[in-house]
This record gives sequence, structure tokens and C-alpha cells, in this order.
Amino acid sequence: MKAIQVGLLGIGTVGSGTFNVLQRNQEEIKRRAGRGIEITMVADLDTARAQAAVGAGVQVVADARAVIANPHIDIVIELIGGYGIAKQLVLEAIEAGKHVVTANKALLAVHGTEIFAAAHRKGVMVAFEAAVAGGIPIIKALREGLTANRIQWLAGIINGTTNFILSEMRDKGLDFNVVLKEAQRLGYAEADPTFDIEGVDAAHKVTLMSAIAFGIPVQFDKAYVEGITQLGAQDIKYAEQLGYRIKLLGIAKRRTGDATTVTHKGTPDGIELRVHPSLVPAKRLIANVEGAMNAVMVHGDAVGTTLYYGKGAGSEPTASAVIADLVDITRLHTADAAQRVPHLAFQPDAMSDLRVLPMSEVVTSYYLRLSVSDQPGVLAKVTGILADLGISIDAVLQREADEVGGEGATSTDLIILTHDTVEGTMNQALTQMQMLPTVLAPIVRIRKEELA
Ligand code: NDP
Ligand code: HSE
Repeated sequence: MKAIQVGLLGIGTVGSGTFNVLQRNQEEIKRRAGRGIEITMVADLDTARAQAAVGAGVQVVADARAVIANPHIDIVIELIGGYGIAKQLVLEAIEAGKHVVTANKALLAVHGTEIFAAAHRKGVMVAFEAAVAGGIPIIKALREGLTANRIQWLAGIINGTTNFILSEMRDKGLDFNVVLKEAQRLGYAEADPTFDIEGVDAAHKVTLMSAIAFGIPVQFDKAYVEGITQLGAQDIKYAEQLGYRIKLLGIAKRRTGDATTVTHKGTPDGIELRVHPSLVPAKRLIANVEGAMNAVMVHGDAVGTTLYYGKGAGSEPTASAVIADLVDITRLHTADAAQRVPHLAFQPDAMSDLRVLPMSEVVTSYYLRLSVSDQPGVLAKVTGILADLGISIDAVLQREADEVGGEGATSTDLIILTHDTVEGTMNQALTQMQMLPTVLAPIVRIRKEELA
């Protein structure tokens, strides 16, 4: 059978990896796919660099629309990135009846509803394994491997840059900015690293996973997003002393009143969708995922807790996921569109309207660090506020004043771990505690996930 012809838009880090791996493993891939898969046309702004990367046998153009217009191209791979031209090109490729493969989580998390609807109308596939956790086949696991399950929650380290930064800060005591530069040099960070360090990239990815896990539309605008830029080195150290590591987690959790899901008395039904630094017990496997590696835990009612681990970024790891999508499409593109695996796992007319909960309704436990005057009654006042609001304390750690501030210091750090409580109630407690004259600085609050 004639090889399937692929057009590649953007041959940068992931695009070049995709071209190289496809070339290197073409025989093996052909045996798996049932026919050859060839990139026959490439579009990139830098045509000289692109031509040098692919050799003389492949047509290189500057205008991506020329690839979409080529009637011989069956699949278009979009590896440009961003919401701008990439969105137009993806929609135009769909309109032209081409299947699309993309690694562009930003695009799908924000415009996924429009893009998947267009693909559904045209009967083409939009595949995006590479958009979440790079080389880890987490989309396939959620959409197909775990299809028997009612997914209850998932939690992942899904941004390599921030995990690398947190690991290096903890291990080597390095400064945040030094480690960020190294992450950029190594190619983990996005073109604009703000997306990584402010949690936006992780929120794009967890938004996509939440849609597939729970059969809800992609709703990036409803996600709570908090990055690692405000995290202090002392909190990483205190967490360690209490038996925890701090990780930037993307969390999606189903909270409904039935017996099979996580709930908390009197709280409304919905989906928690959030990204923020979290204390994780050091004994959990995921707490030991270091450097730029990614890992995702998924808990299903039948299977229990599962864990997926691997490289979440980089040229060839990400290419591995892009090519897996190419093979899937090659196998399935002649199948009746209605029989294919739906883009978001659930049939488009069977999506759930379970709402994404506002952060004030989220239930979790907390690490609090209060800088307080070292004098009698301070602890009693703080714990009194928590008790009045029904917030249960799990552990308290108080450092000697001179250990924190040096000899003669009159203030110290008070660390409190709480049990699960509703975020809105915790906000009230923080407001009241902050007003105490003996609380000397803004209280640090980091959420805590036991992931048991
Ligand atoms: P790069 O910036 O390395 O590559 C993008 C390429 O697209 C560049 O060669 C760029 O050319 C080219 N380009 C820009 N505009 C156009 C255009 N209008 N027409 C044709 N080509 C164009 O990005 P990455 O390979 O790192 O990322 C690609 C996508 O994959 C992004 O969506 C990213 O989020 C995602 N991703 C990346 C991962 C990684 O490890 N890098 C991991 C997982 C996902 P020029 O350089 O001349 O501007
Ligand atoms: N910037 C991303 C990360 C790349 O650091 O994980 C992979 O999506």
C-alpha cells in the first residue's frame, strides 16, 4: 500500500525530533502501522535551516498554507506552537479534510472546544498525545486503557521546567533564577518561561486531562493556576523536615455525593481543577520524581491508583508521542468516523455538565507558615481561630527563635499542617490570623495532597 503522506508545520525542537525518529525507525513503524508514513513536505519560516535538517528529498516551503493545500498530504502535523497562526492553520487543515496531529497544549486547552467540534463536523481526527507529559502515553491510557473506570482523581507533575527547578533548589540549594536559566538552556522551558513558572503550562495539560477523564468540555478559563515563583527556600526545607516534598501538581478531582468519589460533608458536586505547589508525602513514588521528569497518578474505581512516568519534554521523547498519533491515524483513518475513539474519550453528545468548582469550594489540607513573635499565648490564639472555624490540626512545628533568626531573635516560624478543609473556610482563618498583632509577615499557605 502507498505510504501515507504527512506535512509538517514547524521544524524546531519537536519537529526535527519527529523527522529524525520517523526516518530512523521507519521499517519498524511501517510493520506496526501496516503502511509507510513519510513526511514529504515541511513548512518553516527558516527554509534554509529546514532544508538542511530534512535533506534534498523533502519539499520545504515558507508558507504553511501550501502544505495544507497539497492534495497529496493526508495528515498535517502542527508543531509551531501558540494560539495565533497555529490556530488558523489547524482549523484550515481540518476544513481541508486533513487529519491533524499537534503537541500544542496551549491551543487545545483554550480553543479545544471549537477545534474538536470542527474536526467532528469534517470527520477527521485531531490527535494530541504529545500535548500532555511529552513522551508518556497518558492520553492513550486515560482515553483507552482506563476506559472501564470511573476516574476519581488524577494528579501529575506535568511541567518538567518547574520540577527541574524545585529539584535543583532542594538538592543543591541553588537560586531560582540560576536554575531557570539552566532549564531554558536545556530546552525544557517554553519560549516564554512565564507559562512554566506561573503554572499556566501545567494548567493547559491538566485541563486536557480533566476533559478526557470526566467527559467535560475543555475549560482552561475555570482552572485555578498558581506557580512556583512565590515559593521560599525555607518552605522547601520545613516540608522536608515534616516528611514532605513540594511539587507543582496539576490536579483534577471528581467530587460528587455518590459513594465512589471523594467528597466532604456539605460541599457541592463538581470537578476540582487546579495547579499549585503542593506538599506530597516523601514516601510516595511521585514525590521522588526529580529533574525534568514527569509523572501522572490516575485513580480509577476499578483499577485503583496507577502511575505513569517518563520524559515530559525534549525533542525525541515528544516525537515519540507525535509518531504514536501518526500511527494511530494511519491505522484508523479509513474507518468510519463514528467508530473511532472520540477526541475527548466520551462521545460528543454524551458530555457531562458537571461544573468546575471555584477554588473557594475546593477541599484540601494545608501547610501554613506564620512568622510570629516569640511570646506566650501566640500559639493558643492561632489554634483558637482554627478551632472556631472547625479546622482540624494535623501537626505543629515551632522552631527556636535563635535557630530561625539568629541569637537574640524575638520572632520565630510556626508551621501548622491541617486536615482537609474547604478553601473558603481556610481563607477566613487566614484573614483572622493575619490580623493578629503577633503575626509579623504575610502567612505562607501551601496546599497539601496525601495522594493515598
Ligand atoms: P520550536 O520553537 O522549537 O519550533 C517551532 C518551529 O516553528 C520553529 O522552527 C519556527 O521557526 C517554526 N514556525 C514559527 N512560525 C511558523 C509559521 N508561521 N510557519 C511555519 N513554521 C513556523 O518549538 P517546539 O518544537 O519546542 O514546540 C512545538 C510545539 O510542541 C509547541 O506547541 C510546544 O508547546 C509543544 N511541545 C514542546 C515540547 C518540547 O519539549 N519542546 C514538549 C511538548 C510539547 P523559527 O524558529 O524560524 O521561528
Ligand atoms: N515547557 C514544558 C515543560 C515542555 O517544561 O514541561 C513540555 O510541555
